[in-house]
Amino acid sequence: MGEKTKAIAIDGPSGAGKSTLARALAKELGFRYVDTGAIYRTVGCYARRKGVDPGNAEAVTALLPEIRVEVLYDSEGLQHMVLNGEDVTAEIRLPEISMYASRVSAIPAVRDFLMEMQRDLARRHNVIMDGRDIGTVVLPQADIKLFLSASPEDRAMRRFLELEQRGTPQDYGPLLSEIKERDYNDSHRAAAPLRPAEDAILLDTTGNTFDQSFQLLLKTIKENL
Ligand code: DC
Repeated sequence: MGEKTKAIAIDGPSGAGKSTLARALAKELGFRYVDTGAIYRTVGCYARRKGVDPGNAEAVTALLPEIRVEVLYDSEGLQHMVLNGEDVTAEIRLPEISMYASRVSAIPAVRDFLMEMQRDLARRHNVIMDGRDIGTVVLPQADIKLFLSASPEDRAMRRFLELEQRGTPQDYGPLLSEIKERDYNDSHRAAAPLRPAEDAILLDTTGNTFDQSFQLLLKTIKENL
């Protein structure tokens, strides 16, 4: 048996800055960054390709035996999602995949299907893992649990600026509505809803620059690890 690995769980709603911050923190601490949203997106991507309604639990569950999801890391430490042997890392970022991921992630069979893969990554590496239920369900024994939030308006604005920068601009209004709809779906589902673990440290990044949030998280982690 190897040494026990360390795990930092970061949960919170879409657009709170979890992935950007977790990636930077992982680099700083020499941990592996695991983006679990990307894993749900990969299943959402398959449902979309197959023309299956992501809200139809029975139909989505029937697809699971056809799906092989792999999480790989390149030489830069960047996470790649592989779906039945095909790298879908770029495709899962299409805006329409977000809602597919949110809908399929409410299906308990999908969550069970992806659970072991997430736990296995944490057994093998020191990880910073971000998602919605990492501190509550996937890694209840995590060394540190952070719950990151920011106002929906702030999160929609970040998303707006990010898409603009990427050269794929979208209107702010629909982005805000989508954030609110995903918040509702993610926190009102019966299976592993988005909520802070009892022992999570709550951090609100509303109005912060990236650097302010980064320093806040790094300090919190160093004080608690
Ligand atoms: O973090 P993200 O926006 O890429 O996640 C996409 C969807 O996946 C999100 O709407 C909810 C779901 N998800 C989840 O249910 N549990 C996780 N641990 C991570 C993501």
